[in-house]
Amino acid sequence: MSCRRRYATHDYPVGVSNRASTTFWHPFADMSAVNGHELVVMSGDGARVRASDGREFIDASAALWFNSVGHGRKELAEAAAAQMMTLAAYSNFGDQATEPTLRLADRLSALSPQDDCKVFFTSGGSDAVDTAVKMVRRYWWLKGEPDRSWIITRNRAYHGMHMAGTALAGIPANKDGHGELDSRVRNIQWDSPAELAATIDELGADRVAAFFCEPVIGAGGIYPPPPGYLDEVRAICRERGILFVADEVITGYGRVGSMFASTRWSLDPDLILSAKGLTSGYLPMGAVLVAGRIAEPFWNSPGVMWRHGYTYSGHATAAAVAMANLDIIEREGLIERVVALQPVISRLLNPIGQHGAVHEIRAGVGLLGAVQIKPEILAADPTFGPRLIGQLRERGVLTRMLADGSVQVSPPFIISEDDLASIAKAIDESLGELGSVRQPRPTLHVNLLPDQTSDEAGGFGSSDERLLADVPPHHGG
Ligand SMILES: Cc1ncc(COP(=O)(O)O)c(C=O)c1O
Repeated sequence: MSCRRRYATHDYPVGVSNRASTTFWHPFADMSAVNGHELVVMSGDGARVRASDGREFIDASAALWFNSVGHGRKELAEAAAAQMMTLAAYSNFGDQATEPTLRLADRLSALSPQDDCKVFFTSGGSDAVDTAVKMVRRYWWLKGEPDRSWIITRNRAYHGMHMAGTALAGIPANKDGHGELDSRVRNIQWDSPAELAATIDELGADRVAAFFCEPVIGAGGIYPPPPGYLDEVRAICRERGILFVADEVITGYGRVGSMFASTRWSLDPDLILSAKGLTSGYLPMGAVLVAGRIAEPFWNSPGVMWRHGYTYSGHATAAAVAMANLDIIEREGLIERVVALQPVISRLLNPIGQHGAVHEIRAGVGLLGAVQIKPEILAADPTFGPRLIGQLRERGVLTRMLADGSVQVSPPFIISEDDLASIAKAIDESLGELGSVRQPRPTLHVNLLPDQTSDEAGGFGSSDERLLADVPPHHGG
């Protein structure tokens, strides 16, 4: 007979960092290095978090891009508690629905730039990508074109970690060792509209279902679209009858200075994939926003059920939290704040481009910044990235290296200018500590969009009318 000890919650030590070993299998981790060296984050307030050893950090990455409104928002906890005490969740399958879910769907439909938008809820971004891959293929099947099944994606792209998203990934290391995932996916150069057109023509437009595109590439290294890129690829898809899917899991709900990147760049996408900022991560939730023209064959085929959905699709408590989170974003004018901080983050990060170790700074599109380390330095010394992150932690800044060797800067929207400056200073000093020297360089490689001004501040004109075009007016705060 087993004599395993029964544990109660209080038997477990809390807040213990650097335990000899852990049973928690960390996502995206080298467990041989992590085991016994965990950083346990215990609490958060605004743009700051505190670890179990008492250290306080500026949250330079909004956790994983998701915390827009800041940590410790009582209002969101109260929204969750109120909903849980009424009805935590129920099944939304078939004809059943929970009330906050209906209200959130109406709200997102109204916020979406798509005509007659319908909303399919998921538990997060990877679910949204999986749903979208199935939805676009099924759309063509319903339209009597079942051969249209190819999906085209870009290198550097990150589309989550479900099987479909892994297959779509443009970051090769994320695919390694998983066998063949989906044979009908083609990956193209991230910045080449010509390659998109050529690939569609080579495969045959009548065999391609959709082009998946992050308007601003996120986890692949924060790459804003090159000037004119989005206009061109959108036109190519339209001309050839290919669906356009905007993966806005990072850019949705304000991160690029408008409610959606799709509004800022006038994309009129067939599908918008969203998650993260929808709830600021207070509860997991995602949403696929679907243009009415794509929903049409699904909604108007009597007797045909789409057998797709998740247990937590439209989870009532997550929906209540999303509503409260959107209330905060609107009431406190947080997207306006992102617009105001765009030139600031640019101005603060750009001088770091003078470091010998730095390849490129990309900043000034929304509250996003990347400090990319020279690839040759990372190739010669794979410890450089982890050591840089360690130096940043010693200076009270918490973030990570992105897939291309860039330091991620994507703080909560409520961050103060002083804290932004502290992040930049910490990156500067940490690079210096690792032996990098700053030398004035005549040109900095900063991606500026055509609607950006290369004014002294290095930011871009907040006068662009597409910015904030989709942001509801706010009152106070
Ligand atoms: C563009 C993009 N798509 C999809 C995902 C997957 O989202 P999740 O991790 O919530 O499954 C992410 C996550 O970072 C993302 O950045």
